[in-house]
Amino acid sequence: MNTAFAQHIRLTALALAVLTASMLTGCRVEREPNYEWLPWLNYMFFSSAAETNTANTVFKNKMTNQVPPAGTIPRGFAPLHFTADDAGRKLAGEQLVNPEKPTAETLARGKVVFTTFCTPCHGTLGAGDGPVSKRGMPGFPIGAADNNAAKWPDGYLFHIVSYGRGVMPSYASQIKQEDRWKAILYLRTLQQSAKPATP
Ligand code: HEC
Repeated sequence: MNTAFAQHIRLTALALAVLTASMLTGCRVEREPNYEWLPWLNYMFFSSAAETNTANTVFKNKMTNQVPPAGTIPRGFAPLHFTADDAGRKLAGEQLVNPEKPTAETLARGKVVFTTFCTPCHGTLGAGDGPVSKRGMPGFPIGAADNNAAKWPDGYLFHIVSYGRGVMPSYASQIKQEDRWKAILYLRTLQQSAKPATP
């Protein structure tokens, strides 16, 4: 056998061995977990997902739901620098521009936010007839073209949602800024629609 031929045989055998090995390791029964190479590292494969409001042994205070570290601000919840009064609202109306543009996506999100946070008082179409209003809270209509809310700029409404006004509470800690703007975009579509929204 000349050496070139022997070399050829060796390479072919090696290629076959690699191919067979790769096919074998690729085989597995989908219903059962694959072979575990480092069983003592199982905790990395099967880490247990903790429920939000349960105790755990990982953190010192044994709480799963951790308080954010002091001095940090959750993304999208940066505090605003306006005053919580008429002057602040007016200024916000002049200075703030809605960074969100109406698209199918932003309006769909805006609808979710509006439906979750605003309809309880303002009603599905913003007519001021939400379930809470029916139980005594003043029902402020905001969803019709002739309502004040339709005449104020986006920044003014953003201020109302962020700081609250009168008996309406602030939503600054519950709705991130991006979502507040999207809810306002959605409210604009209610105001522009031909459907009468005033009761
Ligand atoms: C708990 C009930 C409640 C919820 C929830 C609520 N509001 Fe209000 N809203 C009110 C009340 C009450 C007023 C009138 C406040 C006042 O007397 O100054 C008001 C006023 C307003 C106004 C001004 C209307 C006007 O003509 O003066 C706007 C705009 C507004 N809300 C938007 C929203 C948006 C957007 C949401 C959701 C993010 C929301 N509100 C959620 C109760 C609520």
